[in-house]
Amino acid sequence: MSEHLSDVWLRATDLEVVSGSGCTVMSADGTEYLDFTAGIAVVNTGHCHPRVVAAIREQAARFIHSQVNCYRNPILESLAQRLAGVCPAGIDRFFFSNSGAEAVEAAVKLAKAATGRTNVVVFEGGFHGRTHMAMAMTTSKAAYRAGYQPLPAGVFVAPFPRPFEWGCDENEANRRALAALEKVFTQATAPHETAAVVIEPVLGEGGYLPAAAEFMRGVAGLCRSHEVLLVLDEVQTGFGRTGKFWALEHSGVEPDVIVMAKGFGSGFPISAIGARAALMDRWPAGSHGGTYGGNPLGAAAVLATLDVIEDEALVQNSAERGVQLMTALHKMRAEHAVLGDVRGLGLMVGCELVGAEDGSPDPVRARAVVDHCRHESRVLFMTCGTAGNVIRWMPPLVVSPEEIDRGLQAFAAALDATG
Ligand SMILES: Cc1ncc(COP(=O)(O)O)c(C=O)c1O
Repeated sequence: MSEHLSDVWLRATDLEVVSGSGCTVMSADGTEYLDFTAGIAVVNTGHCHPRVVAAIREQAARFIHSQVNCYRNPILESLAQRLAGVCPAGIDRFFFSNSGAEAVEAAVKLAKAATGRTNVVVFEGGFHGRTHMAMAMTTSKAAYRAGYQPLPAGVFVAPFPRPFEWGCDENEANRRALAALEKVFTQATAPHETAAVVIEPVLGEGGYLPAAAEFMRGVAGLCRSHEVLLVLDEVQTGFGRTGKFWALEHSGVEPDVIVMAKGFGSGFPISAIGARAALMDRWPAGSHGGTYGGNPLGAAAVLATLDVIEDEALVQNSAERGVQLMTALHKMRAEHAVLGDVRGLGLMVGCELVGAEDGSPDPVRARAVVDHCRHESRVLFMTCGTAGNVIRWMPPLVVSPEEIDRGLQAFAAALDATG
C-alpha cells in the first residue's frame, strides 16, 4: 500500500488487482478471483466489456472534455434521447453529473427549486452518498456521519419496513411504516414545506432489503395525495440489477425524479437525474451545473452499456440468475440457522447472518465467511447493513449459471468452515 494514499478509504481487503474481465479480476501475483462485488454493483456489463472499452477509446480520440456550458455536443443529445426510451413514460429530460451523490444533490436541488419548499423525507437505513446533503439523508451507519455533524437541515427520516428485524409479516411491516410516514407529515414536516420524498426501492448499503411493492405504492400514494415529489434513488438498483431494467417496475410506481449512476456507465464515472419536461422546466437556468457533468467519454460508455444490456439480454439474465441464486440460498438457509434472512430481487441479494441462539446480528461471522471465500475459494464478496452482518450478492449481470454455482459452493464451504 502506498504511504501517499489517504487512509480515509475503508479498505475491505488488501487485495491488489491489476486487470478485470467479465466477472473476474486478476491480482498482482497472477491469481484470478471471481468478483461478486462488481466494484459495488457497478460493472453490470462485466469488467472491461469490449464494446464499452471500444466506445470509450473511440470517443477519447474524438473529444474528451466537451464542456456543457461552452458548447453543444451531439453525443449528449443522443444519450438523453436514448434514456427517454428506457425511462418510465414521461421522464424525458435529463441532467448529467459524475457520481451518485452528485446526482442525489441535483435531485434535491431540482425538487427545492421547482416547489419552493425546503425539506425532504428519507428512510431509515438509506444511503445516498458522501457529500454533505447526501450524508444528511444517509442513516445506514452512524460512523459515516460521525465527525461531520451538524449536517444540512431540513431532512426528516421515516422508518423503512423491516419484517425480519421487527419480527412481523410483510403486510404488518408495510402498515407500520406507512403510518409512520404519514405521521412525519403531520408531526415533523408539513406537506406544504416538503419538496420530496426520496427512497431507494431496495436499501443498498443499508442491508440489501427490498421495499415490498405494496409499500412503494403506499409511499407513491401519500406523495400524490400530499402533492410532494417522489424521487427514486435507483443509483444501485437501476440498469438491470434487480431483474427488471428499473426496480420501480416491480411496483409500477411513477416517480417524479429518477436518480441513476453505478451500472449506468459500466464503471465510467457518470450519473444523471431524469424528470418530466414540465418539472425540469421549473429549474432556473444557471442555478445548477458543474464543470465535468455530461462528459462525452461517459456518454459513450452509457450508450455502449445500453447496447450491451439490450443485445446480451442482461435484464433477463439478472432475473434468471437471481432465481437460481435465491433458490439455492433458501435451501441453504434451511440447513444453516446462521442464515437468518435471505432476500433480494434479481442479482441484488442479501444474506443476513445472525447468532444461531439469539438471532442477533453476527458481523464477525459475516467477516469470517467473506475472508474464507476470498482465501480458500478465490471468490470476492462484501458485507453491508447497519451492523455489517449482511453478505451481499451483486455479481456483474453477465454472470453465468456456472459462476453462480461457484459462488454458492464458496459460500457454503465458508459457512461450514466458520461454524
Ligand atoms: C442508492 C445509492 N445512492 C447514492 C449512492 C452514492 O453514489 P456515489 O458513491 O457514486 O456517490 C450510492 C452508493 O453506494 C447508492 O448505493
